[in-house]
Order: sequence, then structure tokens, then C-alpha cells
Amino acid sequence: MEMIICKKLLNLKNEKRIPFHMPGHKRSLSAQDIIQMDITEIRDYDNLHHPEGMILESMEQLREIYGTQKSWYLVNGSTVGILASVSAVCQPGDEILMARNCHKSVYNTVRLLHLNPVYLYPEYSEEYDMFLDIGEKQKEEIRILLEEHPGIKAVVITSPTYEGVVSDVAGIKEILEPYGIPLIVDEAHGAHFIFSQDFPESAVSCGADLVIQSIHKTLPCVTQTALLHLCSDLVPGDRIEEMLSIYETSSPSYLLLASAEYGICYTQEHADKMQEYVDKLRRFRSKCAKLKHISLFTPQKNQVYDYDIGKLVFLTKASNMTGAELFRQLLERFHIECEMETAFYCLAMTSINDTSETFDRLEEAIFTIDEELDSVQREDAVKGLLFSRRPEQCRPVWEVRSGEKKSIPLEESIDEIAADYIYLYPPGIPVLVPGEKITKEIVANIKYYLYNGYNVPALTGGIIEVACSKSLPEESK
Ligand SMILES: Cc1ncc(COP(=O)(O)O)c(C=O)c1O
Repeated sequence: MEMIICKKLLNLKNEKRIPFHMPGHKRSLSAQDIIQMDITEIRDYDNLHHPEGMILESMEQLREIYGTQKSWYLVNGSTVGILASVSAVCQPGDEILMARNCHKSVYNTVRLLHLNPVYLYPEYSEEYDMFLDIGEKQKEEIRILLEEHPGIKAVVITSPTYEGVVSDVAGIKEILEPYGIPLIVDEAHGAHFIFSQDFPESAVSCGADLVIQSIHKTLPCVTQTALLHLCSDLVPGDRIEEMLSIYETSSPSYLLLASAEYGICYTQEHADKMQEYVDKLRRFRSKCAKLKHISLFTPQKNQVYDYDIGKLVFLTKASNMTGAELFRQLLERFHIECEMETAFYCLAMTSINDTSETFDRLEEAIFTIDEELDSVQREDAVKGLLFSRRPEQCRPVWEVRSGEKKSIPLEESIDEIAADYIYLYPPGIPVLVPGEKITKEIVANIKYYLYNGYNVPALTGGIIEVACSKSLPEESK
């Protein structure tokens, strides 16, 4: 066997790419002695699934730092925290109110538990093809949906979004209060919030019952490290632990645990560095106001509830360039690797470990590219399309996934029932969920994305999986 992965990774440092993407440590952690820490539960070193010693002690500190009832280290990303949280509060067949822009881990729990999802569509920017916050209109909708669906057992939202938009968690919790329903907040992109007043307030102090954070995304921690916080007594902690013991690996990596603890300690102890990071962000943002064609997404207070300035979303819509082309040029010409790209923007992720030099390099690259652009209204950029359609849910997700399916060309799928998740990656939010009806408009939208070179994982070769039968079999009704 050849060492293909190892060789490729060992060569990465020679490529001298500047990482404006996760993980938040930006490859600047020292690797010395790491292999010495690679253990799982050996004697005297505690057990993540039954912590009684050093892991418990470390988690007690988390509780104090984040001001929670209980906090758990996770070594399988926010994904495992979301699976455990939803499973802890829902029984098979329950209804769940979930924002349509939830991560696929929420959709996967819906499928595994045979839940019946009721969707809440956050505010949506057609101009940038981007979900925004859960605004006043949607809060009113939550009230109505809770009345219409008394069986709803939990509410799940994403705040901040991938692009940094934050919702009014406290306001949403206030609506749920009389119903005694837990609010689960996927704060995967907001683990840094508690470390500076210049970031939005974390959901942990806004009344959310369960909050999940990917510390590997925005803190100096290695990939897969995450936290799950229990912030109220609405959900029993032992139920969460039971679910974590089902979903999380039985051989938790102590390397990951050590990195999680290190990244949080480091950030807490380096308030000065955090302030420098915020100053760098503010300077960078104010310089970007001078760009002629590209602009930095900076929603105002009357547009969204709050915004994370650590996300640099470069909008390209007012130029003759797509976000994908900007991503490509940054990488190929300037060795700057961003986190994600769409037709309308390119997203760079920052962290406390970004240096003045990396910010300067990004600034120089963006200004150089901007100088070369023309101000034109691109023909393909007339209107965002992604989530402007609300597909009709005709059959339960689990039922379609486990039923008979067939693969057909996308063009022939109008009026059929989707049998797989159709999503663009990133951001990984499904345009179609199994059981939803495929319409002419949805097919046109998907074709638009395929034509523009988007990655649509479930649509290899333009073939889509659909259900063989369009309605529930009589015996299961
Ligand atoms: C909004 C959101 N939630 C959850 C996740 C899953 O996080 P993880 O990769 O830590 O499992 C992601 C991953 O990108 C995400 O963007």
C-alpha cells in the first residue's frame, strides 16, 4: 500500500496556501509531542462517556466559562451534538419545527427518528441567494405554527448562519416559553462569541435550552472538536448523555480532547490577542469600503438581528465576476484559500490566529482583483433562486428513503417525488428533501446551478433519485 493521503498532506506546507477557511487554528498549532497524547480510555485517564476525573474537571470549567448547566466536549463535530440533542427531546414520530436552513445533521435525525418536520423559512435575500435571520415575520409564523401543530416537541434553528447572520434567540425563546418546548440552537459557527463584546451575544446566554458549537470552526482547535451546552433544566442531562453514548465514538481521541481544551484556554487567556483580531477585522472592513466592484456583506441592524464581523463575505454581484471565479483567482493567483463560494459571493473565514500578514495578503489580493473588474449587471445574476421555492412535502422522509426508488434524468422528474436530499455543497442546505414534490421551477433552478458549475452531490450525471410511488401505500396510511 502506498501512502497517498500522508504524502499529499505532508506536502501541503510546501504549497504555502493561506487558509481563510476552517479550522480556526489556521495550521499554526505546534505539532510537537502530539503522538504522545494519542490515547483513548487507559487507566487513570478518565472516560468521556462516564467522566469522573480529569475530563469531568475540565468540563466543569467549560460550564463556568460558558455559564451553562452542563457542557460536554464532543469529538465527532457539531454533527454528533445535533443528533444527540434532537434525539434527547423527540420520540419517534414526533413533530419538530425546524428552520429550513438547518444543517444536514438535523435532517438526518429527522430521518432516523421518523420525525415529521414543520419548516420555518428564515428571511431570504433573493439578491444574494442567501438565508438571513429569523425575523419578526418568522417569529409570528412560529406562534401560528405552534398553535396549528400542538404535537411539536422541539424547535431547531441555525444561528449564526454560515455567512454570519444571527437571529433573535431570546425573542424566539420567549415565544416558546408558554409551550414548554425546548429551543435547540445550532451555533456551530459561533463558538468565539463569548470571547469578545464585539461579537454577537451567544445563544447560551439568550435562553436557548441546548446549544451546539463547532469549536474547530472559529477557535484554535483541531477539526471535529465541538461543544454541547445544556443551558436550562428543560432537558434532562442524563438523556443527553445517553444519546451521546449512542452516537459518539466509543474510542474518543484524547488528541481532540486536548486540542479542544487548549483552544478554549488559549482564547480565554489571550484577551489581548482577541482584541487585536477584532481590530484587524474592523480595519479590514473599513478598507473594503473603498472597493469599487466587490463589496463586503455588512448587513445593517434593520436588515438582520445581528451579524458576526468575523465572516468576510465578498459580494461580486455588481461586477462581471462570480463568487466562484473570485474563489478560484484568490487561490490560483494569490494562494489564498477561502471557505466557500457561490455564484454571488465568496466567503473567507477568519479567527484569532489570523495574522496582520494574512489580512494584508487578503487585502492586496482583493484590491488587485477589484481593480481589474468591470461594473456590469451580470445576466446570470438577475435574481437569486436557491430557496425562493417552497416544495410541497407529500410523503415522510423516512418512508421515501426506505421505500422503492428509481433513478431518472432530472428533466424527466417534474411532478415526481424526490427520494434523496438535493443540496448544494457548501452550504449543504437541501433544496429538496426526500418526500417533496419536484416542480418545473425547481428543476429549472437545479439546472441553473449545475450549469454554473455548482457541486450538487446527489445529482451525478444529471440523474436524480425519485420515489417509485407518488403517494403512501394504502396499508400504511
Ligand atoms: C451550520 C452548521 N451546523 C452544523 C455543522 C456540522 O458541524 P461539524 O462539522 O462540526 O460536525 C456545520 C458544518 O459545516 C454547519 O455549517
